[in-house]
Amino acid sequence: MTETQKTAKLSLNGQDYELPIFSPTAGPDVLDIRKLYAQAGVFTYDPGFTSTASCDSTITFIDGGKGELLHRGYPIDQLASQSHYLEVCYLLLYGELPTATQLEDFEARVTRHTMVHEQMHNFFRGFRRDAHPMATLVGVVGAMSAFYHDSTDISDPWQREVASIRLIAKLPTIAAMAYKYSIGQPFVYPRNDLDYAANFLHMCFSVPAEDYNVNPILSRAMDRIFTLHADHEQNASTSTVRLASSSGANPFACIAAGIACLWGPAHGGANQACLEMLKEIGTVDRIPEFIARAKDKDDPFRLMGFGHRVYKNTDPRATVLKQSADEVLELLGVEDNPLLQVAKELEQTALNDPYFKEKKLFPNVDFYSGIILEAMGFPTSMFTPIFALSRTVGWISQWKEMIADPQNKIGRPRQLYLGQTARDYVDIENR
Ligand code: CMC
Repeated sequence: MTETQKTAKLSLNGQDYELPIFSPTAGPDVLDIRKLYAQAGVFTYDPGFTSTASCDSTITFIDGGKGELLHRGYPIDQLASQSHYLEVCYLLLYGELPTATQLEDFEARVTRHTMVHEQMHNFFRGFRRDAHPMATLVGVVGAMSAFYHDSTDISDPWQREVASIRLIAKLPTIAAMAYKYSIGQPFVYPRNDLDYAANFLHMCFSVPAEDYNVNPILSRAMDRIFTLHADHEQNASTSTVRLASSSGANPFACIAAGIACLWGPAHGGANQACLEMLKEIGTVDRIPEFIARAKDKDDPFRLMGFGHRVYKNTDPRATVLKQSADEVLELLGVEDNPLLQVAKELEQTALNDPYFKEKKLFPNVDFYSGIILEAMGFPTSMFTPIFALSRTVGWISQWKEMIADPQNKIGRPRQLYLGQTARDYVDIENR
């Protein structure tokens, strides 16, 4: 970030204020309003942060107009096709692609941390069997701070590193355990001879009673879903992690806060909501009815899996996943599945509809990830936990960047107060 000679001028109550302008390496210029309140006595108002940069960052860049997503400068389509999830994790965490030795060392460190403390099994058993796996995930990840005390001191870089590796390594195990618990099957221990994605499929789908061989096409598709969800700059859950950690809270608590935020249907919960919507539509002939509802201003219904705050052209993650969806459906021979027929027809209908074209609403990553996960045999309730485990590395990378930033201070937005002004307390008998 460089401060240019450019400034913006604000005229207020007959006085002029100069606002410095920062020029980023990519993206629009940024007005620096940090001294505005001290100098001019006013706040800015921006609910939803549509025009506000809350931090500076070197990790991920999105150009919503172009439909571009870069991690440390590398385009997501190249990473999805030529790299793999753990290499992308390394890139996000440390800033550069690893050498072969660095990658081997990183993979070994992650692999050695895949098991969870055995006592955590008892913790799971406190949950109802019908609990949503996201509820279990929020609880258990938060509880990691009770099991791994030796990596909660955020002022110690070594402890930060250990906590990061633990979270990346254990999230698939915890998500798979939440699933197994919900269907009444025994927990399956991780297998360190499998890669990250194959190990997750193994922990979700194998049972002690028989052998389970992970299909390499499915583990590749799983790895791609992980890679495409790894980070997405300052979205709601990442901003939640940053805000939570700005108070100095421990990393496990902060990541649990991010998981809680991700759960909502406008964010990570959209993949589950999308599949449930497809099931509700049920048959291709009902699509026009749902399209009409999505366009009706008086109906709160929205087409889940469509639209994005930043992407107004195409979601580059969706482009990659669409191809993956075709491969998986062909492999599994489920192209004729009625639900998937509805998905394909809905996609085409919405893409050709003037309302969706005019408002620049395209299928997003959640539209295709839901289709792939459904075809793989995951219940819809597992879609958002899978998003959460993939995004954990993004949250951690942003958290590490923030802690190491000397400018880091507690987040404390201001408000436009519209309530009562000061008034005297009235005794209960006089109200
Ligand atoms: N279906 C129908 N209309 C829509 C949709 C949709 N999915 N999304 C936006 N619109 C309309 C909206 O009604 C508004 O119309 P108008 O200008 O007439 O009031 C206009 O498009 C702009 O919408 P907005 O709500 O102002 O846009 P936003 O940037 O605040 O919302 C969004 C972005 C993703 C929350 C929204 O598009 C949405 O609710 N989509 C469905 C949920 C979804 O798929 N979320 C996953 C996002 S990708 C994964 C992730 O990052 O978590």
